[in-house]
Amino acid sequence: MEKLARKQVQALTPYLSARRIGGSGDVWLNANESPFDNEYNVNFTRLNRYSECQPPELINAYAAYAKVTPEQVLTSRGADEGIELLIRAFCEPNEDAILYCPPTYGMYSISAETIGVETKTIPLTSEWQLDLPSIERNLDNVKLVFVCSPNNPTGNVINRKDILSLLEMTKDRAIVVMDEAYIDFCMEVSTVDLLATYPNLAILRTLSKAFALAGLRCGFTLANKELIDVLSKVIAPYPVPVPVSDIATQALSEAGLARMKYQTLDLSANRAYLHAGLMVLNGVTVYEGWGNYLLVKFPDGDVVFKAAWDHGIVLRNSPIKDCVRISIGNREECEKTLSFIRNQLI
Ligand SMILES: Cc1ncc(COP(=O)(O)O)c(C=O)c1O
Repeated sequence: MEKLARKQVQALTPYLSARRIGGSGDVWLNANESPFDNEYNVNFTRLNRYSECQPPELINAYAAYAKVTPEQVLTSRGADEGIELLIRAFCEPNEDAILYCPPTYGMYSISAETIGVETKTIPLTSEWQLDLPSIERNLDNVKLVFVCSPNNPTGNVINRKDILSLLEMTKDRAIVVMDEAYIDFCMEVSTVDLLATYPNLAILRTLSKAFALAGLRCGFTLANKELIDVLSKVIAPYPVPVPVSDIATQALSEAGLARMKYQTLDLSANRAYLHAGLMVLNGVTVYEGWGNYLLVKFPDGDVVFKAAWDHGIVLRNSPIKDCVRISIGNREECEKTLSFIRNQLI
């Protein structure tokens, strides 16, 4: 069967999501999920009818939350589908390229490779910021530049002045895709206001993180109407199941937004707790971060990761030497993790 697959697919290593890696235990801090299991009312009638391609109540609710117009919003199966739609709509296979800046989220390259689109990588600088001169030198054939802010896994935000320079540099050449999956934890640094000035900007958002709906699979692309119209050409006819739209709309209601804000504050307090507890340990560096996770450097990251794994505390190892990414769970999970690591390092 493998031989029947496209050559590019034969050569592909699938994204090792937290679910695929597996693990066992009772503390799951490996997928940047929310610990809050919120309840929703689901109406199981009218499922005999197809859903709307872009359900207006959902689009209007997200547009109001993001402070854009409804025509600047496209909803899809998570931000991951937004990544794929952008590549499918804008990149010619075997001709065009995407550019991204590791260490960062893994799906940009996987989606490009699946479609037969070249990937160019310009690593982040030692401060985990954009290397603008190198990006500029490598823009030939690049249609999409992916920038993740707050960046997964490093947690830092990308300097606004560099994003502005990148948008200027790529004007009439390429689209800058700002991945704002974790922006609800620090909305003040969103680039959404730049949509008014830059037609070559697209922004990815999700309900998987701050909204605690990773299992719902609901994300958004924000951009100007002309760009959204292009994406609408390649999206599936019925991408949003009726119950998904109903639940997502409830999450974006006034009560849903108030709960999300309260929960992000709660998680930020847990992040501060974990940060403070880990940074005093010998040989440990905790990086300043903004999402619902912390990147932590240990004297030997693999040893800590493995010991926690064997103990039923499932964390995420990272491509950065000796670093482990820890999602922020509830207070009890943070306490268990901190006390386990503390005992390991003594
Ligand atoms: C930076 C980043 N972008 C996008 C995604 C995917 O989000 P979604 O669950 O909406 O597909 C993730 C998920 O972990 C992520 O970390």
